[in-house]
Amino acid sequence: MTHHLPIRRDGHRPLLLDAFCCQGGAAAGYVTAGFDVIGVDINPQPRYPYRFVQADAVAFIREHGAAFDFIHASPPCQHDSECQRLRGNTHPDLIAPTRTALESTGRPWVVENVAGAVPKLHTPVMLCGEMLGIETYRHRYFETSIHWTLTQPEHPAHVAPQAKMGRPIPPGHYGQFVGNFSGVDHARRVMGVPWMNRDGIRECIPPAYTQHIGKAYLTQTRVEGAA
Ligand SMILES: C[S@@+](CC[C@H](N)C(=O)[O-])C[C@H]1O[C@@H](n2cnc3c(N)ncnc32)[C@H](O)[C@@H]1O
Repeated sequence: MTHHLPIRRDGHRPLLLDAFCCQGGAAAGYVTAGFDVIGVDINPQPRYPYRFVQADAVAFIREHGAAFDFIHASPPCQHDSECQRLRGNTHPDLIAPTRTALESTGRPWVVENVAGAVPKLHTPVMLCGEMLGIETYRHRYFETSIHWTLTQPEHPAHVAPQAKMGRPIPPGHYGQFVGNFSGVDHARRVMGVPWMNRDGIRECIPPAYTQHIGKAYLTQTRVEGAA
């Protein structure tokens, strides 16, 4: 299928494809780091704050990925999350098809996923909220393309106790923000995603993570470009 889209550049900022974008947690961090973004999701995403295309992300990457400066992909994690495994999940595993599509573009990329998917990721870097000043642990794993290197920051000890899943968060505790968690306003503040609802928050990468990744990539390419 051919998508008729606005893959145009609004300025001099590098253009990033945010594949499997949901409500735009990853996107917001990349925008802060210095990218323009276009998000793609198979479902409508009226809360996505940037340019958006409704499409299958794997097909979209194959067809249009080469037009972007950088591609981020967050294939659905339900296939690998513990709660879904217990329920017997029927979600497709899109990590391998996504990687194949990304490699076909020749562009630099990063694929993100959850702990359950680590065996399918190639030497991923783990990010934790505690590394980036966020009061939740939410470990996420990032595989990078051969074009660049992401270094894992030092991982501070988890000192704050975690509130029980689905329960209000007592003072001094960190929330987990999964499933039908309570305290959406608190989660919005902690994660830095004031435009999201509960569905978006439980799926999202905190923008601080992708701000870190985007800055690391831009710093590296600018230094290499200047050499
Ligand atoms: C884990 S969420 C992404 C979270 C996002 N990176 C963020 O930080 O907010 C995965 C998203 O993939 C979407 N999705 C599932 N299958 C898809 C497909 N084949 N093509 C595009 N999007 C898809 C889902 O609708 C969901 O919004």
